[in-house]
Amino acid sequence: MSEAAGSAQPLLRVGRSRPLRGSCRVPGDKSISHRALLFGALCGGGVEIRGLGSGGDNASTAAALRALGVSLRVAGSSARVEGVGFAGLRESTAPLDCGNSGTTMRLLAGLLAGRPFASTLSGDPSLSRRPMGRLAKPLRLMGARLDGRPDPARPDGILPPLTIRGGGLRGIDYALPVASAQLKSALVLAGLQASGRTSIQEPGLSRDHTERMLRFLGAPLGADPVARRIVVDPTGWNGKLRAAPVDVPGDLSSAAFLLVAAAIVPGSDVTVEGVGLNPTRTGVLDALAAMAANIEIEQTAEAMGEPVGRVRVRHAGSLRAARIAGALALRSLDEIPALAVAASVAQGRSEFADLAELRVKESDRIAAVVRELRRAGRDVEESPAGFTVMGSGGRAPRGGRVAPDRDHRIAMAGAVLALLSDEETLVPSEDIATSFPTFVEILRDLGAEIG
Ligand code: S3P
Repeated sequence: MSEAAGSAQPLLRVGRSRPLRGSCRVPGDKSISHRALLFGALCGGGVEIRGLGSGGDNASTAAALRALGVSLRVAGSSARVEGVGFAGLRESTAPLDCGNSGTTMRLLAGLLAGRPFASTLSGDPSLSRRPMGRLAKPLRLMGARLDGRPDPARPDGILPPLTIRGGGLRGIDYALPVASAQLKSALVLAGLQASGRTSIQEPGLSRDHTERMLRFLGAPLGADPVARRIVVDPTGWNGKLRAAPVDVPGDLSSAAFLLVAAAIVPGSDVTVEGVGLNPTRTGVLDALAAMAANIEIEQTAEAMGEPVGRVRVRHAGSLRAARIAGALALRSLDEIPALAVAASVAQGRSEFADLAELRVKESDRIAAVVRELRRAGRDVEESPAGFTVMGSGGRAPRGGRVAPDRDHRIAMAGAVLALLSDEETLVPSEDIATSFPTFVEILRDLGAEIG
């Protein structure tokens, strides 16, 4: 890694790769790690967490919990949280800094909406641009006070920092306007502190880690994934989750970059072990199979209701174009930058649709993917909720400099595409540690030469 003149960030130098070969593990699932920390704090005793994600986002959740009076020790991928239950959380004197992490901010907002004190949630410039009105609306209906900066893009919207004055919540029946695990999880956490029943309906089934883990920990929650409906009724509940050890599987969203790399770099054969295979997250595997990648999936275990296993991808010639839309798009939401790289070297035109939510992720991911694929010399058309890309059918991408817009997944996608280039690509790499601090190390171990 080197520091280029005029750049504030360390830069990776990436060029054409040798075959990637070998077996590896990726850090713990980011979504599940947030929940393990937060729900651990709500338990009635000490909770051991194994396989905790090592990225900056999970560290933001841990720091916020400490500021709320929770004692929490992290050593590598192991952690111990001394659960205090909802009632044991204490008002923080300082704003809670959620860094780059939307999940930290939205889940904490739901949790703190039920606490009888004031909290302020702040974030970095990227998080400070992300919409919070969708969260404020139902939490206000439940009786919390939420304030933020006005959102110039949305009439009823607010932006971080958020100030929450919580307590005295009542249950509601609420239909979410978008399928969002962050939003439904926030409402579940608020609902567990409300009087009466809260019912949440989703327009599509987003990742269901909250439902699985809370049921594992004994929360009064019913979930019907087919009807996409959750019911929370804390009447008569003691307000403490059952303290139980938590095992976090590897993050399929991180593994996705390695699997796509194996699918596009000739001669590759890569296995990722111990990775989460929750069906609400495995769209990327289905999409790669639809693109004719040689992919083998084997479930080897189950942890807290989450399937875990190994995934092997062997390079098998050119990929085919595919259409990623509807439920498949939702099930591969965070993997679209990686899948766009695969599509950009496939045979034919791939279509990505129904992805309007990507406009409000860590960056505008539709704009960022389109920009990066064009920089690499691809023919791409952008639409409000997606894009189409004409695959090169093997023609090498151009090098240059990736502009990740402080988005970890755009930086990693740029690095993976660069593995096929005859020219050098520079990748600002600082933000990769948001979710996948060992990305470069693992790619090097598999055989990539990254300077
Ligand atoms: C997440 C939910 C998704 C996802 C994000 C993590 C979660 O966001 O994109 O990376 O852990 O709940 P939305 O709920 O906004 O769709």
